[in-house]
Amino acid sequence: MTVKTDYSQRAEPEFNQIIEKGLNRRQFLKATSAASTVAFFGASPLSSAIAAPKDSKDLIGFEAIPASTEDKVIVAKGYQADVLISWGDPLFRDAPAFSQNADSKAQARQFGDNNDGMTFFQISDDRAVLSVNNEYTNHEYLFAHQGKDMSADDVLKSQNAHGISVVELKKVNGKWEVNLDGRLNRRITANTDMELTGPAAGDDQLKTAADPKGTKVLGTFNNCANGETPWGTYLTCEENFNGLFGSKEQPALNSNYTRYGINTKGAGYGWHTHDDRFDLAKNPNEPHRHGWVVEIDPMNPNSTPKKRTALGRFKHENAALTVNNDGYVVVYLGDDERGEHLYRFVSKNKYDANNPSANRDLLDEGTLYVAKFNAKDGELKGSGEWVELTFGKNGLTKENGFNSQAEVLIFARKAATQVGATTMDRPEWVAVNPKNQHVFCTLTNNKYRGVKANQPVDAVNPRQKNPYGHIVRWMPSGNDHTSSNFDWDLYLIAGNPTVHEGLMAGSENINADNMFNSPDGIGFDNAGRLWIQTDGKYSNTGDFAGMGNNQMLCGDPESGEVRRFLTGPIACEITGLTFSPDQKTMFIGVQHPGEDLAPSHFPDGGNTIPRSSVIRITRTDGGIIGAA
Ligand code: FEO
Ligand code: CA
Ligand code: CA
Ligand code: CA
Repeated sequence: MTVKTDYSQRAEPEFNQIIEKGLNRRQFLKATSAASTVAFFGASPLSSAIAAPKDSKDLIGFEAIPASTEDKVIVAKGYQADVLISWGDPLFRDAPAFSQNADSKAQARQFGDNNDGMTFFQISDDRAVLSVNNEYTNHEYLFAHQGKDMSADDVLKSQNAHGISVVELKKVNGKWEVNLDGRLNRRITANTDMELTGPAAGDDQLKTAADPKGTKVLGTFNNCANGETPWGTYLTCEENFNGLFGSKEQPALNSNYTRYGINTKGAGYGWHTHDDRFDLAKNPNEPHRHGWVVEIDPMNPNSTPKKRTALGRFKHENAALTVNNDGYVVVYLGDDERGEHLYRFVSKNKYDANNPSANRDLLDEGTLYVAKFNAKDGELKGSGEWVELTFGKNGLTKENGFNSQAEVLIFARKAATQVGATTMDRPEWVAVNPKNQHVFCTLTNNKYRGVKANQPVDAVNPRQKNPYGHIVRWMPSGNDHTSSNFDWDLYLIAGNPTVHEGLMAGSENINADNMFNSPDGIGFDNAGRLWIQTDGKYSNTGDFAGMGNNQMLCGDPESGEVRRFLTGPIACEITGLTFSPDQKTMFIGVQHPGEDLAPSHFPDGGNTIPRSSVIRITRTDGGIIGAA
């Protein structure tokens, strides 16, 4: 448990006063006409921030399902969900079948572990490619010894289970299946050749003995969520890269390391014990070469992935790319850590739909910004601004410890603090509504809110210790994603109305039938339905009673209504979503079923060990996913 500080005790009542002040003014009539004072204070105080849910049957056409604690994937009536591919399945015709005892060589030819973000790219009526992140490794299942006794080959196996699996698909009897003979099948791992590009490439702090120019790097890992470009490439986002580094020695690590959580112990992967590249004493600049967004061409298995340094270095969640009305490319980027920030990149040059090759390096030049949220009259909405992170501007100067634009990008977190960016409750995925340019971001939870001095309770992060998470939405001024200004509100505050009243019960669109915690993956389909995936507590007791296993829900962005569509197996997270262009097949990810040795045998059943899997969802009537 985190110990409460004096600060927290000061912050919470102060903010409650603000809310109540706002309420008293706005809702005086409604309150006084309520049946009782208890009823008034029992209701969520957020109704003015969020439209009360209306009937969404025109947009959401399935019947909601109940919460579940079963060890399987359950989907709404009229839908079917089955496994497309799981960790350790062969990705090539000559690759060995799944075995827990597979060595590093076998793993390099098999689907990676812990699939997360993914994108479906259609090539023809019956051919497509699915690019899938393999975020991290569960050593308790990756090895029979559960990671307790790592050999050099075990480290290599773990490295080969990270990265990206590019999976060619073919349509067989109307269903998308893995094509083991596909020319595009590819594994990208922690050891694949990559380039560093953009303003930070070649900087002294990116140089190592193995790469004296600071432009070539091996591999990508902790690939969390994703993005895609209109020019047909895949964006994979490096998140908890810090945990792979460690040291047997005690090198001095300044704030450039500690701000990113880099320490000599690491997160227990043990890579530094057999691979000097991950030993901080031997290769102090190697961690600066990770924590980027990487662009991959899934159509060319020989292409070299590019780490796009213009998008900044932090614990990237996803990369929500949209082409602005005037052609500039805008990418929204969350940094998933308690009290970190929300970013935006705007390209220097415009997207050219008529000349695909001209767009290939659009993500190398542009401007990075970070968000500042302002409150309005104590309400849970307000205005906001994007503050430029450019060397020489906004205090990003030598006097404040920045020597170049490269340093601003490599240490983007430090730059964000320098300009006074708002600390957030763990920004996870961002998604842009294709219908109206509104942008949504999941703030998954934050036990430090109102506890740590730099994370005071505020309008956009309104709950102390935020155990359930919420979703913020912003509207760019003039529907222009390059504008410096926006208005924001809260689309949803998760909570448990069967256990709590007030803020902890959640917003009005949360009820006993759709409650969940820790929204994480989000994405829109073509019709503007918002799909929400959870990575939360699945104890199903106490604060989380009635929520069951992690799940996926569907939200109506206009009415606010939220319906549960899918529930996952024991101790999993649901993450990653993509659609075939006809919107008749949806792929989602079941990640880490049975984590921490919880009793899951998904998907193989019996006494098998659990495996992360990509799930294919279709309608039994062949219709559009989510529609009526
Ligand atoms: Fe990999 Fe923030 O989730
Ligand atoms: Ca996530
Ligand atoms: Ca998460
Ligand atoms: Ca995860």
